[in-house]
Amino acid sequence: MPEITLEHLQKIYPGQTKPVISDYSLDIHDKEFVVFIGPSGSGKSTVLRMIAGLHSISSGTLKFDNRVVNDVHPKDRDIAMVFQDYALYPHLNVYENIAFPLRIAKVEAQQLDDRVRQTAELMGLSEFLDRKPADLSGGQRQRVAIAGAIVRGSKILLMDEPLSNLDAKLRVQARKDIADIHKKIGSTTIYVTHDQGEAMTLADKIVLINFGDIQQIGSPEELYNKPANLFVATFMGSPEMNVFEGIFDGTFIDNQKGLKFKLPKGILTRFKNNNIKKGEQLYFGVRPEDIDASAIAIQTYDDDKFTGIVTLSELIGESSFIHFDVGNTKDIVAKIRTEDKKQIGQEIELTINMSKVHFFKHDKKQKRIGQTNE
Ligand SMILES: Nc1ncnc2c1ncn2[C@@H]1O[C@H](COP(=O)(O)OP(=O)(O)OP(=O)(O)O)[C@@H](O)[C@H]1O
Ligand SMILES: [Mg+2]
Repeated sequence: MPEITLEHLQKIYPGQTKPVISDYSLDIHDKEFVVFIGPSGSGKSTVLRMIAGLHSISSGTLKFDNRVVNDVHPKDRDIAMVFQDYALYPHLNVYENIAFPLRIAKVEAQQLDDRVRQTAELMGLSEFLDRKPADLSGGQRQRVAIAGAIVRGSKILLMDEPLSNLDAKLRVQARKDIADIHKKIGSTTIYVTHDQGEAMTLADKIVLINFGDIQQIGSPEELYNKPANLFVATFMGSPEMNVFEGIFDGTFIDNQKGLKFKLPKGILTRFKNNNIKKGEQLYFGVRPEDIDASAIAIQTYDDDKFTGIVTLSELIGESSFIHFDVGNTKDIVAKIRTEDKKQIGQEIELTINMSKVHFFKHDKKQKRIGQTNE
């Protein structure tokens, strides 16, 4: 049975006419780790705050364990929440910061002490209990904030960009800590971020939203490999998927093994997908790792090979991203092994992995049609 159910939730802020959340439906299961991701202003925090009871729900139903909780006071929802700009009490030491919610709840002394020490142990904070927040690193302060949220043992944990104040390296460490804590305490977790790395590593289920509308709900693999539309396709993945536009000219080649595409910008490619009609205009997308750019240009010109001129090379370790132009099409990105280093201005041969090309409708919704041979 789903633990949290959102049925057609809508939010219109006071004084406004347009909803910022129009129709949000979602099931969250017991112990699941759900990540809300989307651009700034898409409505992630708004939904989280409706679940926490900090914002009223304009219409729709919110249920916990099948019980409607729309009008239940936040205090009575048994929820713990960690915010981006979490506040620790600067004059209290770590122990007292963690203990604070228990003191408010008038928890008995021995039980309070046990719970604080257990939580500190879980969060790797046992050796810092006497320190003041000012004498901790950013990552440690973050862990104190999380400890303060989970110390009451709530079944539901909501986190709104809890790591965004940390530098890149600490974020990666803190991300691991959060995954570990979830494994240990098993609370149902909703985690808001705009960092897709965090979403991909932490989530059982990702909910990608844009302008208050759910674009796709699925596992990290589903969103990456089968994006529901062009927005999802380009949002998930870094650098983002290369996107081209073209019209299927209806020419079958290679004994109908593929369809031929003539692109306005000078690239030829071929593929087969039974859902595309002659004369149909569409988008097609190829991820950087699905373009092979290891060869130096030779003068063959197959349908799925073309040449490009390198404009930028980004070293990221074992692999690099090279940016290149093909004719008038600018800034296509391919992933290469760093040892296959390319020079700026060099002409290279590129081969698209045809089985990994995604096709999308050329209309407002830009829905995914499928992949080659799908
Ligand atoms: N109290 C409010 N009154 C009116 N409009 C609001 C209020 N809070 C948020 N909004 C608007 O609602 C929309 C969604 O905001 P929300 O904070 O949920 O976005 P978000 O996805 O969390 O963005 P970010 O990633 O920047 O935190 C935005 O357009 C925002 O301006
Ligand atoms: Mg927000």
